[in-house]
Amino acid sequence: MTGFVSFVSAGPGDPELLTLKAVDRLRRADAVLYDDLAAGDILGHVRAGADLVGVGKRAGRASPRQEHINRLLVDYAAGGARVVRLKSGDAGIFGRLEEEVEALRAAGIPFEIVPGVPSPCAAAAGAGLPLTRRYAARRLQFITGHDVSGQLPDDLNIAALADPGAVTAVFMGRRTFPQLAAWLIAAGFPADTPALLVEDASLPGMTRLRGTVASLAAQLAAAPPRPSPAMILYGPLGEGEDD
Ligand SMILES: C[S@@+](CC[C@H](N)C(=O)[O-])C[C@H]1O[C@@H](n2cnc3c(N)ncnc32)[C@H](O)[C@@H]1O
Repeated sequence: MTGFVSFVSAGPGDPELLTLKAVDRLRRADAVLYDDLAAGDILGHVRAGADLVGVGKRAGRASPRQEHINRLLVDYAAGGARVVRLKSGDAGIFGRLEEEVEALRAAGIPFEIVPGVPSPCAAAAGAGLPLTRRYAARRLQFITGHDVSGQLPDDLNIAALADPGAVTAVFMGRRTFPQLAAWLIAAGFPADTPALLVEDASLPGMTRLRGTVASLAAQLAAAPPRPSPAMILYGPLGEGEDD
């Protein structure tokens, strides 16, 4: 009998931000393939005896290839297992969901996608901010600061990213934000636009760094690399909470 794959969104890290559906799928799974950012206490919902397989990709260390992860998903499900593929935040945002879904479709394996809390929502909440504001922030855009080669994508729509009425959430952008800020400022974007970096959003060690596009870029350019996940928000952000 063919098994079933649930792509489960783990949220930004706080286990209380898992959905009821996510917890249900974790409890019933025979095998859980999880990313580094979707681990820790969240895996406490997995029953004893289920296979737990870490398949996280991390810069600077050997990581499983995407084809290997696709193969594992197909093989577990073809053997009849109920599989959870656990991804951080919302599984459909910058998480290579498409490749894995395509592999299952090609193998005729049924699947579902369980949505969850994306990290920009947790970052804004952790700073006491809304992501949109009536009249001031009427558009919200999510971008990645990291292409397949680890660089800032060179085909970014700078006009859209310099929209003064938009809040932009930059995923995986800590290292490349100085470059992005330089492009924005060169395109006429005000350097004193508010900017915020939230590291480990929703987790006990969460930190916030508030400034402007120019000052955050300068701080990040001088900062050593750090392993914790970071979300950058810039645009017409409100006051939020004091750091
Ligand atoms: C591969 S992407 C996955 C995004 C995820 N699907 C989501 O919806 O949030 C990983 C990036 O998401 C961001 N991220 C994920 N969890 C985070 C957290 N708890 N705090 C801050 N940023 C986070 C960071 O930019 C991190 O490098």
